[in-house]
Amino acid sequence: MSKTSSLSKLKLAVGAALTVSATCGFAEINIIPKPNQVRELKGADFKLTSQTGIRFDEKVEAEAKLLAKSINKATGLKLRLVPEKARIRLQSEIHVDVVTGDEESYTLAVTPSKVQIKGGDVAGTFYGTQSLLQLIPLKGQPVLPGCQIKDQPRFGWRGMHLDVGRHFFPTENIKTFIDQLAVHKMNTFHWHLTEDQGWRIEIKKYPKLTEVGAWRKASPPYGDRWKQDGKRYGGFYTQKEIKEIVAYAKARHITVVPEIDMPGHMAAAIASYPELGNDDIPNYNPEVKTYWGIHPYTLAPKESTFKWIDDVLTEVCALFDSKYIHIGGDEAPKGQWKKSKFAQSVIKREGLHDEHDLQSYMIKRIEKMLEAKGRKLIGWDEIREGGLSPNATVMLWRGWNHAIKSVEEGHDVVMAPGSHTYFDHYQNKRSKELAKGLEFECIGGYRPLDSVYSFDPIPEQFQGTEKAKHILGCQAQLWSEYMHTWDKVEYCAFPRIAALAEVAWTEKENKQDFEEFSKRLEVMAVRYKNAGINAFDQSTFFVPKPLKGYKVSSSLKPHGDNQPMAVIDGDPQTFFWANSGPRKDDHIIVSFDKPKSGEKVIVKTGKASEYGDALENGVLEASKNGKDWKVVAEFEKGAAEAKLPSGTKAIRIRCTKNQNSWLQVQELDFIK
Ligand code: ACM
Repeated sequence: MSKTSSLSKLKLAVGAALTVSATCGFAEINIIPKPNQVRELKGADFKLTSQTGIRFDEKVEAEAKLLAKSINKATGLKLRLVPEKARIRLQSEIHVDVVTGDEESYTLAVTPSKVQIKGGDVAGTFYGTQSLLQLIPLKGQPVLPGCQIKDQPRFGWRGMHLDVGRHFFPTENIKTFIDQLAVHKMNTFHWHLTEDQGWRIEIKKYPKLTEVGAWRKASPPYGDRWKQDGKRYGGFYTQKEIKEIVAYAKARHITVVPEIDMPGHMAAAIASYPELGNDDIPNYNPEVKTYWGIHPYTLAPKESTFKWIDDVLTEVCALFDSKYIHIGGDEAPKGQWKKSKFAQSVIKREGLHDEHDLQSYMIKRIEKMLEAKGRKLIGWDEIREGGLSPNATVMLWRGWNHAIKSVEEGHDVVMAPGSHTYFDHYQNKRSKELAKGLEFECIGGYRPLDSVYSFDPIPEQFQGTEKAKHILGCQAQLWSEYMHTWDKVEYCAFPRIAALAEVAWTEKENKQDFEEFSKRLEVMAVRYKNAGINAFDQSTFFVPKPLKGYKVSSSLKPHGDNQPMAVIDGDPQTFFWANSGPRKDDHIIVSFDKPKSGEKVIVKTGKASEYGDALENGVLEASKNGKDWKVVAEFEKGAAEAKLPSGTKAIRIRCTKNQNSWLQVQELDFIK
């Protein structure tokens, strides 16, 4: 999967190309993810007409046919398909070819008489066709700008996850999603198929998994996560449908990695086959869950359970051709195993220390099962608990230290951190979203587009080292508790998927800034619209602004979308919320364009509606030059007020003693 060896070659070439592109500019070339080398050839445009044909090497016939279909959709033109062996000369042609080169690499040359795509392998050819499609202008004549592109991805794992356990989405939706993954040159679809709230994959040997486990009695409605709507809900994919999806994805060079989440998140399976549970303790046997969250039910470490796991994985491996099978491993509470005499007897029998060891013991056995079927195990970073199984690959979602330790121990890692890649978090200010309707509710968090774009999957200490090759790539997550409809999935996925795709594909040094990406994204947003995708409209993104004439800075980082400027944005509903307890001398500075003299300022810290997060020890200071500060008041019970000395240009709220609790600062009040 690693691209390291071929990358160094490419990097040498890229430097030169960038100089060219900087002087020519790539005004008409708005490809996302941004290709690693682009050279614009002014005046060398290629006109797509009804006379244009697609000539193809037989090895890439399927890719050529898909290209013809997509060109037809975009332009209405029906291009003639001509196999190379027919030895027909074309006046105007797109030549779709494959040579032997780097994995997933391609070149694309647009000249007036010919468009030439050459893949380093068949996948590379496919990516060349995807870049070509993004050269077709949004409107007007279908003229492709003259250019030379040389490209290959930064990472071999460019993933997108979808949870179909919490909500189920039909195969037509999955196919449109796969189409878009292809547009973004993503190559891995992580299909999260089992959950406490629904088992979604037909297993022939255990029919109750879908007869019982695919259905729940109720779900929480939007707006009240502790309420129940009383409506039966469910669905599952038949094996025939799964094969169809796997083939559809494969034709688009996307590997479907299935996830069967164990030993936790197994309530639906245990509801179907109670003997899988820890049946020597009370309440071991749930219904298919109707609430979100983490549930206590875990598989019992019985031989019959291992047999069930093996049987399920046998059917899974027959359906999916992926190298990796995801076995979950996340959020498995240890309470049931603590109470179960049987689970304790296994801990003793196997010489294990505790329940974490028991989880590790189970996962090691599952790894052996997968290896016997020729597959590799991947799991969420909790599979580290009690020790990683020997060949496991870790999917990081929590702290980066789990990735760092796994790499240090020689394991491969896919970076899918909650801090950058959880697309179930808000992408705009929460209050702005909820004002549009309850159906805009997200699980929480704040993950705007620019923060996805800023993600670098390689931990700092591994940059430029051999260890970096253990980072296989990155992936975004779509957990679907708050995605009741396909429209909402699209709303959460797009356009953040574009930012993630560029993180995964484009070399760090070839990415420019977020502004430049945003310009290309404007074109992509129209393409989304044309494809009928319900993307979030990035032009409605709320940028917090201080009132005119004020500037705000802080040494503290905000919690979510509660930015420092909220203390002077004119909206009493908003506030600054620091995401840690302030240390001594942490501060917030508010400066004014026009000096103030004799005005009273009132500063209130702490939550407006309840106790907490106030400044425990601090001073309010004033300055005439932004450098020299004079204390004008001390904070008492989280509040301070003072008359500002003549010519005050700035005030500073400064912490004077480290505190553990976070800090919230409400709208400042200036009274004349
Ligand atoms: C996870 O978010 N539970 C992997």
